[in-house]
Amino acid sequence: MQVGADFIVGYRMGVEDFTAGGVTIEESRIAAVQLTSSVEIDYLSLTQGNFDTIAEHLPEAHYPAATYVDLHAQIKVVVPHVPIVTSSRIQTPAQAETIIAGGKADMGGLCRALVADPYWPSKAALGQANDITPCITCNRCWGLVVESKRIACTVIQIAGPKPTCRLKHVRHERTASPSLAAVPRGRRRRALPWSAVIM
Ligand SMILES: Cc1cc2nc3c(=O)[nH]c(=O)nc-3n(C[C@H](O)[C@H](O)[C@H](O)COP(=O)(O)O)c2cc1C
Ligand code: SF4
Repeated sequence: MQVGADFIVGYRMGVEDFTAGGVTIEESRIAAVQLTSSVEIDYLSLTQGNFDTIAEHLPEAHYPAATYVDLHAQIKVVVPHVPIVTSSRIQTPAQAETIIAGGKADMGGLCRALVADPYWPSKAALGQANDITPCITCNRCWGLVVESKRIACTVIQIAGPKPTCRLKHVRHERTASPSLAAVPRGRRRRALPWSAVIM
């Protein structure tokens, strides 16, 4: 397939499998140089882990924020001319800003943060970071997708199967008024309009 020069082409690259015999960061550094010198790539979007090391692919709450930014920075230094997107547990605009300001990546990639709050980028741009509904990295969305079910999210009601879990002790950060993210089947269910935190 051919595209015009103004068509953006990115490449998603798993840079470390954390698996014996799998891709290593050292191999990925070589591959990134070879790839970007042989074809025109507008950006590299980096990830890590595989289905055997899924915890590394979708780091949960006990992993530090921006878990793999330093791993991904090892690719950036060998291809400084290619914009690098780092991903994995970037949750707040401040974290993304810090990564970019520190020169570790050129862009912060978001997946679960956008599932939990599709308005994350708009709120960040408008300086409304406190209104972002945070992803709690429970990985329910992932579990549904790998079972070929429609995606759904624990912290916000979006199209998909009805929530099977119940959140308690959730409050709106904006108003500090107690509220529930989801209530049991058969009762009125409401979406969280603004950010919520688990207390
Ligand atoms: C529901 C779901 C589907 C995903 N599908 C893909 C995929 O098709 N290809 C891919 O490279 N990564 C996929 N990922 C991984 C994300 O792109 C991302 O690397 C990972 O969720 C960590 O980033 P995050 O902390 O911003 O969510 C998926 C993640 C989730 C939660
Ligand atoms: S289901 Fe859980 S992991 Fe997925 S976006 Fe919602 S809060 Fe985050």
